[in-house]
Amino acid sequence: MELTKTDWRPDSWKQKPVSQQINYGDEQALNSVIGQLRQLPPLVSATEVDNLKSQIALAQQGKHFILQGGDCAESFADCNADSISQKVRLLVNLSLLLSNKIDKPISRIGRIAGQYAKPRSQLMETKLDETFHSYRGDLVNSIHFSESARTPDPERMLQGYSYASLTLNYIRSMLESDLDQLLQLDKETQALAQLKQSAKLHQSLCQFQQMAQLFQRFYGSKAMNKGLMEFFTSHEALHLHYEEALTRQDKDGNWYNLSTHFPWVGMRTANPDSAHIEYLRGIANPVAIKVGPQMQPQQLLALCKLLNPNNEAGRLTLIHRFGHQQIARKLPALIQAVESANHKVLWCCDPMHGNGQLAANGIKTRDFQHIQSELEQAIAIHQNSDSILGGLHLEMTAEAVMECVGSSYQISAQELNKSYTSLVDPRLNISQAFELIDNLDISIQKTSPKSQLIP
Ligand code: PEP
Ligand code: CO
Repeated sequence: MELTKTDWRPDSWKQKPVSQQINYGDEQALNSVIGQLRQLPPLVSATEVDNLKSQIALAQQGKHFILQGGDCAESFADCNADSISQKVRLLVNLSLLLSNKIDKPISRIGRIAGQYAKPRSQLMETKLDETFHSYRGDLVNSIHFSESARTPDPERMLQGYSYASLTLNYIRSMLESDLDQLLQLDKETQALAQLKQSAKLHQSLCQFQQMAQLFQRFYGSKAMNKGLMEFFTSHEALHLHYEEALTRQDKDGNWYNLSTHFPWVGMRTANPDSAHIEYLRGIANPVAIKVGPQMQPQQLLALCKLLNPNNEAGRLTLIHRFGHQQIARKLPALIQAVESANHKVLWCCDPMHGNGQLAANGIKTRDFQHIQSELEQAIAIHQNSDSILGGLHLEMTAEAVMECVGSSYQISAQELNKSYTSLVDPRLNISQAFELIDNLDISIQKTSPKSQLIP
């Protein structure tokens, strides 16, 4: 199928307005890095990318479900065995719990191996009397607050490529190793329990551990394990210089972004006339856009046409993120517009990004109750609209952190500075992530076919 239009090139985005652009003072240094990146091998294969697209197509029909999750901002320092393995194990375990809940096979997609570039509402940051560039992700600058650390450095793209590649290499080797290891979360749950003593927490963590052991027995056969070995990567395609350099053409002339399986464009850059949409429209990957409260039905229809002119199954995912107070007002009209135009999309709920708030002590947090409420409303709205909610997008970590308030872990706003390591947005910890899934008591989609749990 001809996806790419003749007027599209990997660099045609440069003709459009680039919001959230990263400005490097030194053009020559930037071009030299881009030249080097172009020479480096791709990180994923087009076959894997196509495989994910066919799984997303199944999720669109309600036969499968997509669980996407990880850090808001992955850091280069996270490229170590413990951290990578924690992230993979969290996603695998959570997918087992979810699969059991909704009785569908799950595709796991990490926000990992390249989630290094961040859009920011404020492009500059001021502390005391100093103002520097905001932190834009490790691909661009450093979190440290000084002029040199915050100045965008193109060499970081080469480092980012290397860290993504090392991360992916370790993930691939983990998935080849034994299932027992993949299912262990003992150390992480203990660390969390030590962080805060709570009777209720201990109870729920024990339950999750028991569940994992049960699943482990259930999935013990080799044939079942095959599904667990599949793991996809995703990141926000924000830094278009980087994305372009890793865009490669296959023998049939199709262009793929081979830095990741599943690139998405964030809410701040998803304007139909933007450089980011121009870039996304020409690649053959399954792609996603974030859909926030400002999105109008007509604009969303324009995006569907631009990004999926042939109405290909599995191609386009709409990750909606409105916040618990706005979803009921905003989502139904968008579903109505997209469904009546017969656009094939995967509807995916991100209950995190519309629910940011500042605690009294000025720390960025999210309230578990709001996250849960948005997810529950999303499920109900899709059921009432006869559309299919086929995906869930979470920011979460297996590190023992207290970043989101609430849940039976009962994190209070005063505790937020005790263990807060996110570089940008607050994440659910293991206990909160499990609790969110465990609390789901409505089936995600009513026309669920009775299927085996794991492909
Ligand atoms: C994100 O996913 O970290 C993000 C910035 O999302 P959004 O574009 O939805 O705000
Ligand atoms: Co985020």
